[in-house]
This record gives sequence, C-alpha cells and structure tokens, in this order.
Amino acid sequence: MRYQKYIDKFPSLEGKNILITGSNTGLGFEFARLILSKNAHLFMAVRNLDKGNKAIKKLKEEFKDAEITLLKLDQVDKESINEFINKVKDVHLDYFVFNAGVYIPRNDIKSKEGYNYTLATNFIGPVRIVEDLLDYFKEHHTSLIFVNSCARSKVKLMHEINKRIYYKKENHKIYSESKHYLMDYSVVLAKENKDLRIINVAPGISGTNILKNNDSKFGNFFAKIGTKVMNIIGNNPEKAGLIILDATLENRASLDYIVPRGLFHTGGYPKKIKTPFSGVTHFEGLEELI
Ligand SMILES: NC(=O)c1ccc[n+]([C@@H]2O[C@H](COP(=O)([O-])OP(=O)(O)OC[C@H]3O[C@@H](n4cnc5c(N)ncnc54)[C@H](OP(=O)(O)O)[C@@H]3O)[C@@H](O)[C@H]2O)c1
Repeated sequence: MRYQKYIDKFPSLEGKNILITGSNTGLGFEFARLILSKNAHLFMAVRNLDKGNKAIKKLKEEFKDAEITLLKLDQVDKESINEFINKVKDVHLDYFVFNAGVYIPRNDIKSKEGYNYTLATNFIGPVRIVEDLLDYFKEHHTSLIFVNSCARSKVKLMHEINKRIYYKKENHKIYSESKHYLMDYSVVLAKENKDLRIINVAPGISGTNILKNNDSKFGNFFAKIGTKVMNIIGNNPEKAGLIILDATLENRASLDYIVPRGLFHTGGYPKKIKTPFSGVTHFEGLEELI
C-alpha cells in the first residue's frame, strides 16, 4: 500500500467492527482498504449491491482473509434506511462512518419526498440514521465519524434549510450548506449526548468518483479534467483515506476535527483541530423533515 510507513504507525483494529457508508468507491473504499489492512471487520453499506459486490471482490484480491459484510442503504430513501437500521441492530458496531455523499447532482433528480437531492443525501439521510439509532449507539458505545468538507460554508440554520429543502437547483453552494448543517448537527448532538464520541473529518480535495458518478451534473470531459486537477491540488484518494483513519485512534475525543495539514486543509497528512462551533444550540423544526 502507498504510505505504508505512515500506516504502520497506526495500531491494529483487530476485533473492531467498522461500518462505512458509500464504501464501494472513492474515499470510503480507500478507508475500507486501510481498516482491512489493520484487520478490522468491514460493514460495507452501499446503495447498489452489484457495485458493492464488485468492490468486495477487489478488496478480497488484496486482503484474502478480509471479513466483510455487505448491507444495502440508500440514504435518500426512508424505506431503505428503515430496513438498513433493522439489520444494523442485529450486530455490534465500534465505529459508524457517515461517508456517503454527493457533490453537484443533475437538476432533475430529487429524493422520493421531493427534497433537494444534495441536502437529502448529505444531511437528512445521516440525521435520520442517527436519530433512529441513537439508543443503539449509546448501548454499543459506537463512535460516530462524519465525513465533512473543507468546502463547508456558513449559513443561517433551520430557516435556510426549510427554504432550500424543495430547492430545485443543484450547485456548489447547496453542497457547502449541506456539510455545514451536518457539522452543526454533530456539534449539537455531541453537546446533548456527552456519552457519545463524535468526530468530524474533512479529507481535503480528492479526485474520486464524485464528479463522475451517475448522479453527477458534470459531463465526461469536465469530470475527467476536474478529477485530475483535484488530485494535483489536494490529496489523492489513498492519502485522503488516512485522514479518516486518524479519527479511529483511541485518543481521539468528541468534537475533534481531523483535517489535512496543508493550506486551507485541502491536502496533506492528518492533523487534529477543534470542530468549529457556529453557536447553534438546537435544531428546531428538524423533526418535521426527518
Ligand atoms: N472528493 C473530495 O474532494 C471530497 C472532499 C471533501 C469531502 N468529501 C466527502 O467525502 C465523501 C465521499 O465522497 P467521494 O469523494 O469518495 O465520492 P464518490 O467517489 O462519488 O463516493 C461517494 C459514495 O457515496 C455513495 N452514495 C451517494 N449517494 C448515496 C445514497 N443516496 N445512498 C447511499 N450511498 C450513496 C456512492 O454510491 P455510488 O457508487 O452508488 O454512486 C459512493 O459509494 C462525501 O461525503 C463527500 O462529500 C469529498
């Protein structure tokens, strides 16, 4: 593996059960490789089981004794979330990594409820999962890791969410806002639940599938060039995976924020800072959306 010397410094994850949403590709897949190299049991949650099985085949070529459990989860579909939650309740998880996300999808796709697709995927979906599994997380001492972004931008809370939830246009601003909401939600969650360990990570900029996937608004040409540029100015996906791995260290505490060391946190090895707190103390009205 690339960065082997760096990876060697991390302790074994033998005996740990780690669930990663969206781990069939991109950063989730690279993080999956890292935890398998440390002998963890991977719970791979994906929206497309064929893609999941292909990813598992690839992982087993590299780690032939890998322990992997495949679960179906479509974060924008409430029924899928409910079925997923029932399956999760049957197992013990040490870490739940909220990684699945979209950047700028096509304007014509929406969640089943008609919500803005980016907000539904990046914010509403994870919140639904947390709220439904809150007691489970406490009982199992599951650490929560939220994959956030350096592209997060500050916005006024619930008022803006309500305004944008049926907003049709997809763009960078909505992505930034979805990550900002998720960050504030994690802060409120941590403050209200001192017995939970909640860590945020921002992997930097990385040329994954994020511009190229089926939902993406970008054409092939732009997606190809964009992906190359992202890897040049930021972290390649393998290195970005290290940022998430850092969050699994035993001494990482609630509201630690793991980011790349480089300028504007776009690239580099992991470093720990404090999760920014924007002053939000509660999410009034959120229950109606979830
Ligand atoms: N790449 C970057 O520069 C960057 C920077 C900062 C933060 N991030 C964050 O990192 C996370 C991973 O992104 P990535 O760059 O690895 O992108 P990616 O390569 O496109 O991977 C995204 C993963 O999320 C899954 N996914 C998308 N919508 C889903 C849904 N409704 N339900 C369940 N799974 C869904 C995708 O499944 P399919 O394969 O089926 O599409 C895929 O497995 C995202 O949260 C993203 O916002 C990325």
